[in-house]
Amino acid sequence: MKSDSVRSRIKFALSSVCVASCVLFTPVAPSVAKAADISLPNPQMEAGMSVMQALAKRQTSRSFSGEELTPSQLSHILWAANGVNRPDSDGRTNPAALGVHSVEVYAVTAEGIFLYQPQTHTLQSIAEGDFRMTTTTGQPFVGEAPLNLVYVGNSAAWENAGRGPSGEKQVLFDSIAAGTMAQSVALVAAAEGIGTCVRASVDHAAFSEAAHLQDGQTILLAQTLGVLP
Ligand SMILES: Cc1cc2nc3c(=O)[nH]c(=O)nc-3n(C[C@H](O)[C@H](O)[C@H](O)COP(=O)(O)O)c2cc1C
Repeated sequence: MKSDSVRSRIKFALSSVCVASCVLFTPVAPSVAKAADISLPNPQMEAGMSVMQALAKRQTSRSFSGEELTPSQLSHILWAANGVNRPDSDGRTNPAALGVHSVEVYAVTAEGIFLYQPQTHTLQSIAEGDFRMTTTTGQPFVGEAPLNLVYVGNSAAWENAGRGPSGEKQVLFDSIAAGTMAQSVALVAAAEGIGTCVRASVDHAAFSEAAHLQDGQTILLAQTLGVLP
């Protein structure tokens, strides 16, 4: 019952920010259903608390109230992860080795899997359905939380840039970038009364299949978010 309630509330929150012109149900293959893309509201720079206060509040949480995340909270979380803060140069809130933005942020809700697109501050629909438990190896709170982020390194970004490391060093650089994203998200979350749990334990096979990950995409880290009780 509780998960149904959470599901309906996050569905309302997400659908309330959908762009009217978004493309509905345009599967990449006949068997793949996709939800609507989501346009996030602009992040509000005056929101939150001081960085020092947020650091004082940061801690891992694995229990949440069941409340929905608001469109504004979703916006702040994704923008903190890898949003554009210097549009002239495609500068981001997160640093990137050699300026190559090779880590992608997937948002997994009760409604589906979405890929964050920093330039448009939108969530691009990847798959429709509740795939939250594919982002864990069995921790039940993950399946009840309104939002799970999955940080994925993409070697295509390095190849397209034509510079940077390969092999283990590439995964190391990507992992560092994912870690700094997760900490920015944790601080914004702390400032907004949202609990977080960063997680290395992800079902790689299940999430790779659900999110249609390709060769060269590497799951690095996950992060669960929900309103604190
Ligand atoms: C790289 C990394 C991986 C982690 N993986 C998990 C995980 O899979 N599941 C989980 O519940 N917590 C995970 N944690 C959270 C830690 O258990 C937590 O940070 C630790 O207990 C310290 O608690 P605190 O964050 O409240 O200070 C992870 C933390 C880090 C940094």
